[in-house]
Amino acid sequence: MIYAVAGASGQLGQLVLPELVAQVGAANVVALVRNPAKLADLAATGVTVRAFDYDAADPAALAGVDRLLLISANEVGKRSAQHQAVIDAAKAAGVGLIAYTSILHAPTSTIGLAGEHRDTEAALAASGVPHILLRNGWYNENYTGSLAPSIEHGAIIGAAGEGRISSASRADLAAGAVAALVSGAAGDVYELAGDESYTMAEFAGHVARIAGKPVAYVNMTQAEYAAALKGVGLPDWLADMLANSSYATSHDQLFDDSRSLSRLVGRPTTPIAVTIAVALA
Ligand SMILES: NC(=O)c1ccc[n+]([C@@H]2O[C@H](COP(=O)([O-])OP(=O)(O)OC[C@H]3O[C@@H](n4cnc5c(N)ncnc54)[C@H](OP(=O)(O)O)[C@@H]3O)[C@@H](O)[C@H]2O)c1
Repeated sequence: MIYAVAGASGQLGQLVLPELVAQVGAANVVALVRNPAKLADLAATGVTVRAFDYDAADPAALAGVDRLLLISANEVGKRSAQHQAVIDAAKAAGVGLIAYTSILHAPTSTIGLAGEHRDTEAALAASGVPHILLRNGWYNENYTGSLAPSIEHGAIIGAAGEGRISSASRADLAAGAVAALVSGAAGDVYELAGDESYTMAEFAGHVARIAGKPVAYVNMTQAEYAAALKGVGLPDWLADMLANSSYATSHDQLFDDSRSLSRLVGRPTTPIAVTIAVALA
């Protein structure tokens, strides 16, 4: 059985690959990447590295692949067409199964980013290619990338209100993707989120305790939060996207208590406090 990972050079892909190699062996893994030079070290370990661009998806790069992990791309607005191209290429190449990294509760999510994931889920259904949906919640790391200024100002801002967030570490979601790719069956749909949930006020409490400094959560309207993000230099599209996601959080769009992820990987997910401690170490 040959397993391929598309989006292999990204942060999730870089966590998926060693786990996949450990489970199925380097000789059975194909890493698909826009620029193969990025994965030269991996090629030296026996993993096959092939050039693959979602914008010009070539079925030849998928020759012999039985199961493909399609990691969603990162250029918002282009992804529906890119993922459609990959699905078409996989079908043409005779790939037996595609596992796709979607978004938590894709069919009903009010998060703006969910639209392209719904498009891709529909494209998979229309393709007739057997598939697995990995509906990923947010990474813990989304919240820990810029803690320093928050600690300095004693404030974490957002529009998430009292909404609960069931995030998991990127490594947890990588382990889930590998488990589903290797052992899952066509038609499986996983809502993948952390075992624990927290509000942003509780998140700020963790940061304050771990940093040993006062940090409070300051809630804003979606428009105020977007304006604040633009004020610190974020491009308009990114500020608007983050504010949209944060506001959707206030309606529990990132909450899930199914514990599907910990069942899939056979261990508890990483608590947010652990990821905060790692980020601040
Ligand atoms: N659940 C969450 O919290 C969360 C957060 C952020 C993003 N996401 C989604 O999950 C995906 C994986 O997360 P991540 O942290 O690994 O993101 P990431 O580090 O930005 O990785 C994205 C990957 O997509 C590849 N890619 C983008 N456009 C491509 C194209 N046209 N052709 C081939 N490859 C292309 C990139 O390749 P290059 O190395 O060539 O650029 C990279 O390998 C993201 O792309 C995004 O869709 C989820």
